[in-house]
Amino acid sequence: MKEFLYASHLGDLNTALLEAAEIKRDRYAYEHLGHHKTVMLVFFNNSLRTRLSTQKAARNLGLDVVVLDVNQGAWKLETERGVVMNGDKSEHLLEAIPVMTSFCDLIGVRTFAGLTDRAADYEERILNQFIKYSGKPVFSMESATAHPLQGFADLITIEEYRTSKRPKVVLTWAPHPKALPQAVPNSFAEWMRTGDVDLVVTHPEGYELDPLFVGDAKVEYDQMKAFEGADFVYAKNWSCPGVTRPEDYGKILCQDPSWTVSARQMAVTNDAHFMHCLPVRRNVVVTDDVIESPRSLVIPEAANREISATVVLKHMLLGMK
Ligand code: CP
Repeated sequence: MKEFLYASHLGDLNTALLEAAEIKRDRYAYEHLGHHKTVMLVFFNNSLRTRLSTQKAARNLGLDVVVLDVNQGAWKLETERGVVMNGDKSEHLLEAIPVMTSFCDLIGVRTFAGLTDRAADYEERILNQFIKYSGKPVFSMESATAHPLQGFADLITIEEYRTSKRPKVVLTWAPHPKALPQAVPNSFAEWMRTGDVDLVVTHPEGYELDPLFVGDAKVEYDQMKAFEGADFVYAKNWSCPGVTRPEDYGKILCQDPSWTVSARQMAVTNDAHFMHCLPVRRNVVVTDDVIESPRSLVIPEAANREISATVVLKHMLLGMK
């Protein structure tokens, strides 16, 4: 595997789930693969889970790890070609990428959506420059449109906790004071569509996700109706994806607090598990009682980020042989 951005890059996901279970039984089973190899983790944006879990996964595989926080200690990077660089950005990505990759064998990149230019975000302009100019395998640690390590961890978590052959999984929009990217809900929908689940997406009108990710999943604008009989509820805020009105791309269209996931909605589910990728704003996205309830999976879900990253890095290392 030379790049990892979408679910399809990992190949057969039933096999990947078996690999995840194997890694969970023995995290160091493939420790030899990374011997004398280095992974560089480049963060353009903040992270807690991705930073920790990907480093742990790399060490499970015997890799050396270098972490670079682009905006803390490195030179500020220009990412667009043709810009007269007489502002605060001292270095261009086109020099920085080959320099970074001189010191590693594979590279992970976190680069969030700018949320002002839909075309630039959905073309993955920054991540694709790493793919084009690094000459090394590149994996996403959350890019403008996708968070595949999270999507895979979510799939693993649902596989572990499902009690029915085809559970009902609800992806629900929830309010947030800031405009957030669509990467997590995009990947959640994409990875769920590969699994044996009934996916229902619920959000206020205007928040329709890109069909590239959501496909023909059922959309229900009535949140209470969507929650009826759900086995898993996955909450996430996202800003307007600009599918129906491109001029609204990246905007906050709704802050209706009735969309906050609370006991009221959970009461109509099939005693659903609650999921969220974290970090989460309590009592904005979800109430304290729901996230703290025994049905909440937010901690095992986060812990599974180590497992998803170990499987993905294993595939990348095997692809380099
Ligand atoms: N879920 C997730 O990616 O968390 P971080 O942003 O803390 O890495």
